[in-house]
Amino acid sequence: MYILGIETSCDETAASIVKDGMEVLSCIISSSLKYHRRYGGIVPEIATRHHVENIEKVISGSLSDAGLRIGDIDAIAVTQGPGLVGGLLSGISCAKSMAYALDIPLIAVDHLNAHVYSSMMGRRVPRFPFIGLVISGGHTRLYLVKDFDDFRVLGDTLDDAVGEAYDKVAKILGLGYPGGPIVDRLAKKGNPSAIRFTCRPIDGGLDFSFSGIKTAVMYYVKSHGSRDRQDIAASFQEAALKVIVKNSLKALEGHGLKTLVVGGGVSANSRFREMIKKEAAFHGLNIYLPPVRWCSDNAVMIAGLGYRLYKKGVRSPLDITAKV
Ligand code: KG4
Ligand code: ZN
Repeated sequence: MYILGIETSCDETAASIVKDGMEVLSCIISSSLKYHRRYGGIVPEIATRHHVENIEKVISGSLSDAGLRIGDIDAIAVTQGPGLVGGLLSGISCAKSMAYALDIPLIAVDHLNAHVYSSMMGRRVPRFPFIGLVISGGHTRLYLVKDFDDFRVLGDTLDDAVGEAYDKVAKILGLGYPGGPIVDRLAKKGNPSAIRFTCRPIDGGLDFSFSGIKTAVMYYVKSHGSRDRQDIAASFQEAALKVIVKNSLKALEGHGLKTLVVGGGVSANSRFREMIKKEAAFHGLNIYLPPVRWCSDNAVMIAGLGYRLYKKGVRSPLDITAKV
């Protein structure tokens, strides 16, 4: 079964064709990132225009890369949210009209659940239930995942998402956007215990807060300057990632589970991957990490999860709208 996935929730206009939820036949991503850089963050209007101008090309490209014609597609999966409303509506409108014209099912997919699914592509699907962790530019969330359509939130960020904290710290240090990959590289050369930044879980629960550590970095730079950028990056990163690893282990332990499935832009972070693998070896855990190319936004994960939802009988009506 061939599913066309469409993803337009942020700055990537993406389309992909996945066979039977696992076999990736094509993956096209057209990013508007370069137009946002000078503003130090995503400008929704620019992102939306990019989607509207590029979506047709991206979909045609995904069909030709897969060696398929439009009539070969069995269903269309589209990101319904969360994300930027203009972007989501561009993808949803396109998916709806295609589903109507081709008379094939439409399947609305949650972007965060799809990030979790990206770790399973090309691997054996883990046995339910398991703990899902999404660490991205917009979210830091732990889930108890009971099925492909049953994700229960266990912990969430109360303020900034971890990726957002990386981006803001990079800005404070006068680095570029997005900051995550730059801080990741810089931190490799720094001493993670040079500066004491702390980032504690909230009330001993599974929620997160990253605005405090971002402010601490800002005050540190105000009083000490940013000459020791490598140490600042390493110390910030170590504290921020530690709380994510700690809460993930707590969620696993609390539910008596051994499988953690991770997704989202920050799961590309080299130190995070190192830390979580070390814990996995120590506690005998199964960790699913997405291949680095599928950590950030893509449509492979939308088509993949779309297939699983289709198999569970999910069919979305043509009057769906964005869930921001
Ligand atoms: O999942 P994603 O592409 O978009 C959202 O759905 O938000 O995540 C983007 C975020 C950005 O904040 C970016 O700085 C961060 O992921 N990121 C990283 C790394 N690569 C991307 N953060 C830390 N280390 C990285 N290597
Ligand atoms: Zn995302």
